[in-house]
Amino acid sequence: MPLALRLDDTSFSYGHGPPVLRDVDFEVDRGEFVAIAGPNGGGKTTLVRLVVRLEEPTSGRVEVFTRKIGYLPQRAQAGIDAPLTVRELVTAGRASRTRLFGPLAGADREAVRQSIDRVDLTPQADRRLATLSGGQQQRAFIAKALAAEPELLVLDEPTTGVDVEAQDAIAALLQRLRDELGMTVLYVSHEFGAVERFVERLVLVRGGIVFDGPPSALPGVWHDPSHTHA
Ligand SMILES: Nc1ncnc2c1ncn2[C@@H]1O[C@H](COP(=O)(O)OP(=O)(O)OP(=O)(O)O)[C@@H](O)[C@H]1O
Ligand SMILES: [Mg+2]
Repeated sequence: MPLALRLDDTSFSYGHGPPVLRDVDFEVDRGEFVAIAGPNGGGKTTLVRLVVRLEEPTSGRVEVFTRKIGYLPQRAQAGIDAPLTVRELVTAGRASRTRLFGPLAGADREAVRQSIDRVDLTPQADRRLATLSGGQQQRAFIAKALAAEPELLVLDEPTTGVDVEAQDAIAALLQRLRDELGMTVLYVSHEFGAVERFVERLVLVRGGIVFDGPPSALPGVWHDPSHTHA
């Protein structure tokens, strides 16, 4: 399998602060679905910000072998009170790709329609985000990330604040997208239990990578939620 991305002996500090990630070696194949979990402040967001090139490593090397990246930042739904409809939000995601080429063409409108359909929000497409449930809002933001037709999809806690059923629905949706579109998916979730049930590969981040493998290989002590939520 060709690589989607590689971090090689990568460390990172904010400014002159202490390292928040140390000596990270991390390789992801194309088409892999990787869940990233760990305690608050463990460095999950920092890790994915390195991957999407919003941060540069303090030492080591980060290589990402595609420029088609869809990124849903943590707490993206802040600002949800803006009077945007689902379609307008998703169109904005598409525009990040088409900006250089002028107004949206028919193919772009079709991509927007398809992204909304993939997350099952077609009936809500012209409703304002503020009138949707939390889980529906999250799906709208996932559609926004999908609209640019990414090869690598990076989602930072897309299920915060939604119930277990909605979390499962979003997890199933992401797996389907991976299978149908062959995308590489990095999925950060502090809801460790939800993740454990469906992923093949789990990465635990706590100042570095402290576990990388199938959830079934996780040492018993890590199953204690206090270790992942801290
Ligand atoms: N912009 C910043 N400037 C300085 N320190 C930061 C900054 N962002 C994060 N940190 C620190 O870096 C460490 C890792 O933070 P990070 O946001 O990557 O953790 P996280 O695992 O995503 O946590 P959470 O589960 O709360 O989202 C924390 O100690 C945090 O306080
Ligand atoms: Mg975070």
